[in-house]
Amino acid sequence: MGAGGFVFVPELSGKSMNGTCLVTGAAGFIGSHLVDRLLGLGHQVIGVDNMVLGRRENLAQALPNKQFSFRELDVNEAAAGIAFLREETARGPIETVWHMAANSDIQAGGRDPDVDLRLTFLTTYHTLQMMQALNIPQLVFASSSAIYGEHDGELKEETGPLFPVSNYGAMKLASEGIITAALERFLKRAWICRFPNVIGSRATHGVIFDFLKKLRANPAELEVLGDGTQEKPYLHVSELIDAMIFLWQRGQGKPSCYNIAPETGATTVRYIAEAVVQAAAPRANIRYTGGSRGWVGDVAKFRYSTTKLKSLGWSPKMTSNEAVELAISENL
Ligand SMILES: NC(=O)c1ccc[n+]([C@@H]2O[C@H](COP(=O)([O-])OP(=O)(O)OC[C@H]3O[C@@H](n4cnc5c(N)ncnc54)[C@H](O)[C@@H]3O)[C@@H](O)[C@H]2O)c1
Repeated sequence: MGAGGFVFVPELSGKSMNGTCLVTGAAGFIGSHLVDRLLGLGHQVIGVDNMVLGRRENLAQALPNKQFSFRELDVNEAAAGIAFLREETARGPIETVWHMAANSDIQAGGRDPDVDLRLTFLTTYHTLQMMQALNIPQLVFASSSAIYGEHDGELKEETGPLFPVSNYGAMKLASEGIITAALERFLKRAWICRFPNVIGSRATHGVIFDFLKKLRANPAELEVLGDGTQEKPYLHVSELIDAMIFLWQRGQGKPSCYNIAPETGATTVRYIAEAVVQAAAPRANIRYTGGSRGWVGDVAKFRYSTTKLKSLGWSPKMTSNEAVELAISENL
């Protein structure tokens, strides 16, 4: 066992890291950026998305690339997925699945728990089922700060007990559980990456996306849920992908679980509201609905410890506020 609880698995290092990748949720915000980056690194990439939130234009750069193939597919239709992937793997085995598909609307999951059961948990369950059927050894999983629930102080990977306060967080935590159980059965390696709030171009949701959408509908006023004091770390999607690829290329861990976030700092909702208004509708009035939480299931404030990731040698370059400013300019 090495630093940070790693187990080195030599047969999966080196050359095999250049293999074919499957990205679920490939037409979504993070998935599409990941597809572009993996193609840029020379990988063969297969993308699937049911297009509930995914957009074909997010794949504009990838679709003409001969190294990329895309299928509109619901991951929960595992039999259809296995049949499609069998055809694809005739050209060569898939070595890593990047499981990005999930419900990304936490509030929708609060209104109807069925949403996160199907889109957040069962997509993981069925992804694992497909991986077992096709003998795919490695999984990188998009987990979330939402698994932690509410804690005082910095959230470390070992923080617990974990009592999520949203159905989304609960189903991400359950997904982590079935992934670690799969490591005992067939999976060779898993990277559990716990994202903070991720922002940037092609966003399909999130605070900046919502504020800009509201201001387009009504340039005179921005309604902000809560009192604006909610404070969280925001990471630019380019840096999230840098970190995930960095972890994956280390070829270590079974499982390896990491918080990914800006090294220091968090950004308040008030800061974001004021920056968005200044950029998009400088005369708009900002109206706060009040209360310390934005909505049921919102964790109003949290800070991540990124010591574990930093100890491996990776740190982001942008602060949380810098990432917010860049993402606003990209989404205008
Ligand atoms: N954006 C963030 O701030 C953030 C934070 C923490 C974790 N995450 C996780 O990162 C991943 C990517 O999130 P995102 O922000 O890009 O959201 P997104 O909604 O843009 O991307 C998710 C994609 O998955 C697709 N999808 C959903 N259900 C599917 C199914 N059954 N079969 C196939 N495709 C399906 C959607 O159509 C969408 O394109 C998700 O797992 C999300 O939970 C995101």
